[in-house]
Amino acid sequence: MSDEGSNPTISALFSEDRKFPPPPEFAAQANCDESIYEEAKDRDAFWTKQAERVAWRKRWDQVLDWSDAPFAKWFTGATLNITESCLDQHVAERGDKVAYHWEGDGGETRTLTYQELHEEVCKAANALAALGVTKGDRVAIYMGMVPELPVAMLACARLGAVHGVVFGGFSSDSLRDRINDAEAKMLITCDGSYRAGSVVPLKEMADVSLAETPSIEKVLVVRRTGSDVNMVEGRDVWWHDVVSGQSSEHEAVEMDAEDMLFILYTSGTTAKPKGIVHTTGGYAVGTATTHYYVFDLKPDDVYWCTADIGWVTGHSYIVYGPLINGATSVMFEGVPQHPDKDRFWDIVEKYKVSILYTAPTAIRTFVKWGDEYPGKHDLSSLRLLGTVGEPINPEAWMWYHRVIGGERCPIVDTWWQTETGMILIAPLPGVTATKPSSATLPLPGVAADIFDDAGNSVPFGGGGYLTLTEPWPAMLRTLYKEPDRFKEVYWSRFSKPDENKWVYFAGDGAKRDEEGYLWLLGRVDDVMNISGHRISTLEVESALVDHPAVAEAAVVGRADDRTGQAIAAFCTLKGTAVGDENLIKEIRDHVADKIGKIARPASIVFTPELPKTRSGKIMRRLLKDISEKRQLGDVTTLANEGVVSELSDLASQAKAAEDD
Ligand code: PRX
Repeated sequence: MSDEGSNPTISALFSEDRKFPPPPEFAAQANCDESIYEEAKDRDAFWTKQAERVAWRKRWDQVLDWSDAPFAKWFTGATLNITESCLDQHVAERGDKVAYHWEGDGGETRTLTYQELHEEVCKAANALAALGVTKGDRVAIYMGMVPELPVAMLACARLGAVHGVVFGGFSSDSLRDRINDAEAKMLITCDGSYRAGSVVPLKEMADVSLAETPSIEKVLVVRRTGSDVNMVEGRDVWWHDVVSGQSSEHEAVEMDAEDMLFILYTSGTTAKPKGIVHTTGGYAVGTATTHYYVFDLKPDDVYWCTADIGWVTGHSYIVYGPLINGATSVMFEGVPQHPDKDRFWDIVEKYKVSILYTAPTAIRTFVKWGDEYPGKHDLSSLRLLGTVGEPINPEAWMWYHRVIGGERCPIVDTWWQTETGMILIAPLPGVTATKPSSATLPLPGVAADIFDDAGNSVPFGGGGYLTLTEPWPAMLRTLYKEPDRFKEVYWSRFSKPDENKWVYFAGDGAKRDEEGYLWLLGRVDDVMNISGHRISTLEVESALVDHPAVAEAAVVGRADDRTGQAIAAFCTLKGTAVGDENLIKEIRDHVADKIGKIARPASIVFTPELPKTRSGKIMRRLLKDISEKRQLGDVTTLANEGVVSELSDLASQAKAAEDD
């Protein structure tokens, strides 16, 4: 929880009353009707039926074992290899179907059919095995959005090795910490990746990490940019040297449904990221089922999720869910503004994309750029639109609906988290009427509730904390090597272990309207949401005080109409340091070096003092009010009163530093 108690956003009420019933033509062809909600009331029977999407080697004894709550076991006793669901089960019947249309940053293309993807994965699995990777080993992956990225993940899964993908925008330090926490044996990376025509030197950045990662034995490098890179004899090997010559057959390793599939690190409320652990069977069932219903997937759809695979959205809805369902996806390496601001719409037209899944921050940027860019292209192939990552404001929703969806495409606003593994709250297109800015209702088989501070369910019409009151198949199983922290962070706030009542606390505030629709209101803890990415205030604060000139730092996420929130930093300086423009730039770059560019503060204000409570806690809420130029909240607990007016002056003078 934040240090000043409950969040004012929770009491915010929306006056949005527009409602969009499902278009009748869409409803007529939808993958389900409203009876699915009723059917899913028998939770275990529902998930048993959905489990048919997955290719099992051995069936389960029990759908859910919750006896050791909050440590869940789904499909106990079952065995499978998830890549057989993603690949082998499709090869015989639709081997020629395209799995990925890959579009490079500069417009080059590659097409991979299910047959070809299967072959590539088998070769890569054979190469990894030859390099010593075996079941249970951790493999770190730090790559751009090239086809070898899903191939590498699936090759790990084929061998039963645990992949830990680190987003290519993270710094050397972030990569090092994640490798060390996971004790990864191998790193798979690229020489570089392309972003808007320039090269991101991934291998060079990885080299800095590798100086301090004793567990790494081998580094496998994909050539993408052709840049000169340093290859360490005996440790570093080229992908094309070791993968190409391998056999395209590989017998997948049999895994228990509860064997670990991947670790993905995400920011928490402390400076140390949490290693979210996902396992195999339940994750496969959860991602495939939600991908099928939420996106109303049909065999001929061309589906495009614009996320980077470095985040959970890419894991669940570019790799596992779509592949298990045998979907055709577009995978894009580049950025929306390169070579021009119509790139997305050009891709939609080129591949005749029918389902588009993107982020509110991107939509808000498109709104700013203007209607002329989508206007240049034929978007009539689109039939369904999705959003994820943060609340979407009604204006952006309406623009998406009108300009991109031609007023005919349902919009699915999907709420979920790295922890949840799968979408949990979203409309079912063709079934659920939508309201702009509401993620609508929990999906069939999912139980969500809104609690007040005391842990009571809030009646319809009220606001509070979003909770999940029953387990779901793709839920995180634990935090890597930190089971106590897992219990503490997610299950201690509202659970009643004595009564064997387990409640998952999502960390989000939400309002539930009179019809039971859920309206997400953002985080209630010290986690910011920048362009749909979670960044911990504490993580940025530690990076700030790591700079030699900074004595103390406080960070808040202030509202920003493009990125949702922007990082506003307040620093006190040491001794003789001079807080000028140069120092601002230096400190911002320092944070980018420590964590990654996404964590670079948008503004830095130097202040002689930070506002603190009498017990010495920094009053972040007050800083947030100051940076958003709002009426100041309660300041009676403030120890150093003079600081407020001074800070307000400084903050309004401060020129918002240039954002990337
Ligand atoms: O605050 C919620 C917000 O993103 C958080 C999860 O972030 P992450 O684990 O990085 O996963 C993002 C992609 C699944 C949530 O706690 N969030 C995600 N989707 C929505 C959302 N907030 C409002 N509406 C959404 N649709």
